[in-house]
Amino acid sequence: MSIDLLIHSAAQLLSLTGDAPKRGAAQGDLAILRDGAVAISGEHIVAVGDTLDLLALADARTRQIDARGKIVLPGFVDAHTHAVFAGDRANEFEMRLQGASYLQIQKQGGGIMSTVRATRAASLDDLIAPSRARLDAMIAHGTTTAEVKTGYGLDTANEIKMLDAIAALDAEHSIDLIPTFLGAHVVPEEFKGRAEEYVSLVIEEMLPAVRRMKDKGGRMKEPSPLFCDVFCDDGAFTLDQTRRILTRAKELGFGLRLHADEFANLGAAALAAELGAASADHLMVTRREEMRAMAQANVVAVLLPGTTFGLGKTNFADGRAFVEENVAVALGSDLNPGTAWCESMPFIIALACRYEKLTPAQAIVAATINAAASLGIAARVGSLEPGKLADIIVANVPDYRHLAYRFGANPVETVIKRGRVIPPKSSSLPLDARSSQAI
Ligand code: NIG
Ligand code: FE
Repeated sequence: MSIDLLIHSAAQLLSLTGDAPKRGAAQGDLAILRDGAVAISGEHIVAVGDTLDLLALADARTRQIDARGKIVLPGFVDAHTHAVFAGDRANEFEMRLQGASYLQIQKQGGGIMSTVRATRAASLDDLIAPSRARLDAMIAHGTTTAEVKTGYGLDTANEIKMLDAIAALDAEHSIDLIPTFLGAHVVPEEFKGRAEEYVSLVIEEMLPAVRRMKDKGGRMKEPSPLFCDVFCDDGAFTLDQTRRILTRAKELGFGLRLHADEFANLGAAALAAELGAASADHLMVTRREEMRAMAQANVVAVLLPGTTFGLGKTNFADGRAFVEENVAVALGSDLNPGTAWCESMPFIIALACRYEKLTPAQAIVAATINAAASLGIAARVGSLEPGKLADIIVANVPDYRHLAYRFGANPVETVIKRGRVIPPKSSSLPLDARSSQAI
């Protein structure tokens, strides 16, 4: 077998080995090789081991990357994003700085609904272009796979338009995307006072339409799971509405995720356990007994410290408590225009360690293999092992702890996606020029 690419001499190669989420004592298990190397053929990893052993596999055509003094790890998997949207909400950010709360702004007609208006007004191409620029920034910071939610369409045609945008970006961009239907993000303004009618629309029209779209098949690059998410919170959907939507989604074969306990505890984490959801996300106000129920039901906790930070709040999710209660913890950026416009998983790791009480090793596991497990793709990505996709980062730091210790600059030097070295983009280009060209 010919080796196309060999990365060698890494000060630390974080292999993370395994297909299962790591929890409890294993949450921080990086499986580090010193002077490590990884050999790639085509899109896949074919060997991981000592530099001396793997150099013997190289021939004249093998491209080599010398990672001396650097660390090598799996590409980040961002378990929760709203990366596809139109417009921005800088005005609301400023209003929050002046004392308005996220929910107050939403009640006044802003918030999610203002992004819904912009997204509905955008053509498919106008939705794709700014989203592509965000994916460019994400991959530059080491994200090689990301979940992306709908939820800014909130009618059948616009939710499908969002899924079309996600599929188009998945096809053209190096990052692999996993779609999640979030038709129940908020009750849209035209259904004001008629939430139950909107829930019925989601259940009777949108879910089957999305399911049919998936059945027609072939839209995403890889056969990927399809998830349904509901924002269960004050100002969004009640526990009972969430249960009805997710129960129907489950019957239709969707995997389940939930926005749970971001502002108020309505019992969504326990519901995630009851329904066997793949993940419950946010979890800023979750109780210990709910954590235990999640552990029992193998629900992954997707923590989103960028949101708490982005909102200027301090009630971060208690990551250490989830680890203590044997819940597998994953991380996501929650990239969205309202609460967390952040494309950088290294920054999310830095926040998770400081404010959610994860160790650097636990946070790296959360941002790779556990995030992949929460998306049902841990057999494909999330660790460096033969047979997995060659989704790999070389970071210009001498020790994995630096990923969390330092912040604000980008530690990621080289990104390899499916065996291909991603050329860095010049960030000095104007946004339009930069986003007009896919990686
Ligand atoms: O995860 N909570 C709901 N959804 C997003 C916010 C989306 C928005 O404000 O546009 C979140 O924080
Ligand atoms: Fe979110």
